[in-house]
Amino acid sequence: MTTTATNKVEIRRGLMGVYFDRTDSCFIDGTIGKLLYRGYDIHELAEKSTFEEVIYLLLNGKLPTRRELDGFDRQLRADRDIPDDVLDIINKVKDGHPMDVLRTAVSALSAYDPEVKDNSEAAIIRKGLRLTAKAPTIVAAHDRIRKGLKPVKPNANLNHAGNFLYMLFGKEPSEDEMHIMDVDFILHAEHGANASAFAARVAASTQTDLHSAVVAGIATLKGPAHGGAAEEVMKMAEEIGQPEKADGYARNILDHGGRVMGFGHRVYKAEDPRARHMRERSHTLGIAKGQPQWFEILTKLQEVMKPYQARGIFVNVDFFAGSVYYLMGIPEDIFISIFALGRIPGWTLNVAEQYRSNILIRPLTDYNGPMDLEYVPISQRR
Ligand SMILES: CC(C)(COP(=O)(O)OP(=O)(O)OC[C@H]1O[C@@H](n2cnc3c(N)ncnc32)[C@H](O)[C@@H]1OP(=O)(O)O)[C@@H](O)C(=O)NCCC(=O)NCCS
Repeated sequence: MTTTATNKVEIRRGLMGVYFDRTDSCFIDGTIGKLLYRGYDIHELAEKSTFEEVIYLLLNGKLPTRRELDGFDRQLRADRDIPDDVLDIINKVKDGHPMDVLRTAVSALSAYDPEVKDNSEAAIIRKGLRLTAKAPTIVAAHDRIRKGLKPVKPNANLNHAGNFLYMLFGKEPSEDEMHIMDVDFILHAEHGANASAFAARVAASTQTDLHSAVVAGIATLKGPAHGGAAEEVMKMAEEIGQPEKADGYARNILDHGGRVMGFGHRVYKAEDPRARHMRERSHTLGIAKGQPQWFEILTKLQEVMKPYQARGIFVNVDFFAGSVYYLMGIPEDIFISIFALGRIPGWTLNVAEQYRSNILIRPLTDYNGPMDLEYVPISQRR
């Protein structure tokens, strides 16, 4: 039971089912697994669009013309470099988790953004685009620095997804890898009032700046109940090791009241529509790389979890994403950073929306502790 009434106050734990504002950006119908960005179906966008086009759509409210997209893309490519000072900071904190490093570096970038204090909608969008452009440079540079390698400079000839993989691995990715990364960024770009977007909105509601709100978003995304699941799913698959062991492994978790990572969602009580696009890739990439076992293990886990569908527990976007990243050679601890790279436009959009008709977000907690206790001096306490 999530709704309780004490002293005539209705409590909605986790703000479950609570609407706190209106939006024209993202529509989710969790009962049938439907997701629209600005009215466009996620399946169409994942199959026909590009991440650059989706960012434009989200932040400008309409699909761009060819000319609009070209100018927009040129700007994104031009904004990829990060200051040497930020590279030094990354170097100093290189032993931290990649999400902690990303959070720290985004925070540091605020000192170098000429519009940091400008909270007009146009400036919020410009800053969000600069962060979108620079964040992959942070994640890739950190991974190389911690491995004792030199960071790779952004390559303006590659699109957003391709350039990220290029900076990460130091070589140009294949068309197929570039496309997979692009689709992955599209799938993660926006998702309504999820926990990290809500955290960004709460920050924005105090009239703080975009960088601070995005830092709140990154901090909130890090948790395994939100963005950390892809990494956990892959760890689980590695621990299982062989498809025939998947059944026993999952049953053991469930028998002990645990959760199988990559299943369940606060809003989706049908299959997360984003999962489909990573499922196909997990299968085909596994075969192409001579490692079909990961998809087989995940398929077995789905079978074990089938009875849970009656309770609205289906696979979510993270379930297949982890295996796709793994097969592309991406280190497990940056899976979640990839989610963050895709989500920066979504956080920017939420902050811009919050600012458009701002009100301080400040809910209440119902006090049920003792009242009017007598303060006893420390010398007299036992
Ligand atoms: C995402 C998540 C936090 C959403 O949870 P929620 O809507 O708050 O639902 P609850 O945590 O209250 O769970 C409701 C019930 O479903 C069960 N459940 C939820 N996810 C489950 C999972 N992955 N495996 C097994 N049981 C699960 C809970 O144990 C609970 O059972 P109970 O009512 O018997 O106690 C939850 O599904 C989860 O922890 N999933 C695993 C992590 C994950 O994949 N996160 C990525 C989300 S995109």
